[in-house]
Amino acid sequence: MSNISEQIAQIRQQIEAHNQAYYVLDNPRISDAQYDLLYRQLVELEQQYPSLIIPSSPTQRVGAKVASGFQEVRHAVPMLSLDNAFSDEELADFNQRIEQRIQSSLEKKALAYAAEPKMDGLAVNLRYEQGVLVQAATRGDGEVGEDVTHNVRTIRSIPLKLQGDGWPDILEVRGEVFMSKPVFHKINQAHLEKGDKPFVNPRNAAAGTLRQLDPSITAQRPLSFFCYGWGQVSDEFSIPADYSEMLVYLKRWGLPTNPLAKVVFGQPGLVDYYQDLSARRDQLDYEIDGIVYKLDNLEAQAQLGFTSKFPRWAIARKFPAQEVWTKLVAIDIQVGRTGALTPVARLEPVFVGGVMVSNATLHNLDEIQRKDVRIGDTVIVRRAGDVIPEVVGAVVSQRPADTQLFEMPTHCPECGSDVVKEADKAVYSCSGGLFCPAQRKRALAHFVSRKAMDIQGLGEKLIDQLVSADLVKHPDDFYALNVDELLNLERMAIKSAQKLVAAIEASKQTTLPRFIYSLGIPEVGEVTAKQLAKHFTSLEALQQASLEQLIAVPDVGDIVAQHLIQFFAQPHNLAVIEGLLNAGMHWPDIEPQAVVIDSMFAGKICVLTGSLQQMTREQAKAELEQLGAKVSGSISAKTDFLIAGDKAGSKLTKAQALGITVLTEAEFIEILGEQAHG
Ligand code: IVH
Repeated sequence: MSNISEQIAQIRQQIEAHNQAYYVLDNPRISDAQYDLLYRQLVELEQQYPSLIIPSSPTQRVGAKVASGFQEVRHAVPMLSLDNAFSDEELADFNQRIEQRIQSSLEKKALAYAAEPKMDGLAVNLRYEQGVLVQAATRGDGEVGEDVTHNVRTIRSIPLKLQGDGWPDILEVRGEVFMSKPVFHKINQAHLEKGDKPFVNPRNAAAGTLRQLDPSITAQRPLSFFCYGWGQVSDEFSIPADYSEMLVYLKRWGLPTNPLAKVVFGQPGLVDYYQDLSARRDQLDYEIDGIVYKLDNLEAQAQLGFTSKFPRWAIARKFPAQEVWTKLVAIDIQVGRTGALTPVARLEPVFVGGVMVSNATLHNLDEIQRKDVRIGDTVIVRRAGDVIPEVVGAVVSQRPADTQLFEMPTHCPECGSDVVKEADKAVYSCSGGLFCPAQRKRALAHFVSRKAMDIQGLGEKLIDQLVSADLVKHPDDFYALNVDELLNLERMAIKSAQKLVAAIEASKQTTLPRFIYSLGIPEVGEVTAKQLAKHFTSLEALQQASLEQLIAVPDVGDIVAQHLIQFFAQPHNLAVIEGLLNAGMHWPDIEPQAVVIDSMFAGKICVLTGSLQQMTREQAKAELEQLGAKVSGSISAKTDFLIAGDKAGSKLTKAQALGITVLTEAEFIEILGEQAHG
C-alpha cells in the first residue's frame, strides 16, 4: 500500500510540475496526449484506492456544488486598492513625492519600480497552509470578501499544492483572476447560439464565473490568474529585499506571474513602459486597463506606508477608458450601401477610447433584443483601438421606468419601400434598390465603377454634386447629361466635361455580364453576374426566370435567387432598366459554348490557394472547369497555373520555386472577364 501511495504522490507531483511548466513557465515539457495519459493513470489509481484521494490531488479540482450562497471571509491583512494617475504629469508627481520622502543611499539615483499590466479582472486572496491551497476569497470591500475556494480550485494555472520548497507555512498570495479574450469570445458565441444574453466584457464574464455556485460550470469557462502580491506570510519566512525578487519566489512555487512584469527606473522608465504597453494593448490576449507601478524595494515601501486607502508606494496609471456609460437617447436607422438597415444609437456625447462619441452601432435587431437595450437606458459604450464604437449592453440596474423598446420599421425611412428580412439572416433591408436615395449615391458609384460600366472621371465627389444638383437620380440619367449642364457644376472645366460626356457615351457598348453586375442587385457580384448571363443569355430571360430556374444556375442559391426576384419585381427598377435600354445601352449576343474552345485554361492544370475575396473556391473551380481546366489540390511540376488569393502560403512558395505562372485573384477575374466576353 505504501508503495502505491508513493506512486500516487509521485504522479501528482509530476502533474503539478507539468502544470507549472505549462501555465507558469509557458514552456510545456510533454505533449497534451502524454499529459492526459499521466492524468488518466492517476484517476485510475485513485479509483482503485479511493482512501488515498486527498483534496489537493489534481483530480479534485471540480468539487460539489455549494449549497447556499458564499461564506464571508475576513482578510487577515486588508486588501487595499490603488491610487490612480491619469497623465504623465500625475505619474511624475508620484515619482517626485516618493523621491522626496525616501531617505536612503539611493537618494540621487533613479528609483527602481516594478511595473506590470493592471489586469482587468477580480482580485483574490489565495491562502496556502503547509503548501496546500486551503482557501480562496474575493476582495469584497477589502476587509471582508467571499469564499470562492470551490471555483478557484478549477483554475488550472493555480496550484492546489505549491511546488519546490522553502515556502512559508502560511502564505497568502494575491492576484487577479481574469478571462482571456479568446475564451470570452468563445463563451459568448456559445451563449448567442443558445439564445442567452452575452456577457458585456471579459471582466463581467470572469466575475459571473467566479460567483457560480456550481464549480462544474466554472470549470467549463477557463479562467486565468496572475499574482502580484501577498497578504499574511508566516513570520519565520524572510521575505527578500525587493518585490521583483519575491515574484521570482512565487513563480518558483508554481504561481503564475505576468511575464510582462519588469523593473524600470525613474520617471523616464515609468513613461516608456506605459507607452510601450499602450501600443500593444489591443494585441494582448487579455484586457488591461492600465499599468501598476510599485516601488521595488520592500524596505522603502514600509518606510512610505499607507494613506487611509492606498499604499503610498504604488500607483495605477490608467489608460483612457475603452468602456464608458452614457445615455441612449434614440435609435435611428441608417440605410447602408446594399440597403441593409443598421440601427444606430444616438448617445449623450461621451469621451471613450480617446475620442468624443455620440453615435455607436447596434449592429442589428437581434442584437438589440439579445442585449436588451432600450431607448432611455444607460448603456455601456465601447471603443477599442480604431474599431467603430459599439453599444455592448444596458446597465439594467440604472433603468428608468419609461424606457422604450425598439422596433424595426416596416418601410424604409429614406424611400418608403418595403423592408424585407432574409429568413436565415439577422439583417433587415430596404427593397428600394436604386430608387432609395440613401442607396442611390452608392448604387450610382457602383454603376460607373471599373467592373461595371467603367466610366472614367466619375468619382464619388462628382456623383455627389450631380445628385445634389438634381441632374442624376438613377443610372439612366447619366446618359441624358450634356456638356452645358456639367459646366454649371463647381470646378468643372470644359475639357473635363467633354471627356466625361464622351466616356458616358462609350459605355453604352457593354456586355450582358457587366450590365447585370452594374444593377447592384444584393449578393450579385461579378462572378454571379457572369454565371447568370451565360445561363440565360438574355436580359429578358433573366428577368422572367422563376425561383427554380434561378437556383438551377451554378452557385445561385436560395438567397441570391430571392434577391433577383425581389429586384425585378420592383417597378422602379424596371423603369431604370428601360431607361438604360432606351438610352441605347447594348451588348453582343452571348453564344454559350464558344468561349470554352479557345480558353487559355483549356486542358491546363490549375491549383487554387489562399483566400479569395470576390468568389468562393467552389465558384472559382466551377469557372475554371467550365473553361476546360483541370483543378488539382496540390502543386507539382505539371501544374500550369496557381491562382493565389490572400495569405497564400507554402503552395505559392513552391509554385514560385517551380517557375509556375501565378495569377492574383484580380488577374484571374480579369482573364475570366475576357474569356467570357469572347
Ligand atoms: S497591486 C496594495 N497589481 O487593481 C496594492 N493590483 O486598484 C494591491 N489590479 O484591487 C494591488 N492588476 O484588483 C496590483 N498588477 C496589479 C494589478 C492590480 C490589477 C487590480 C486589483 C486591485 C486594483 C487596485
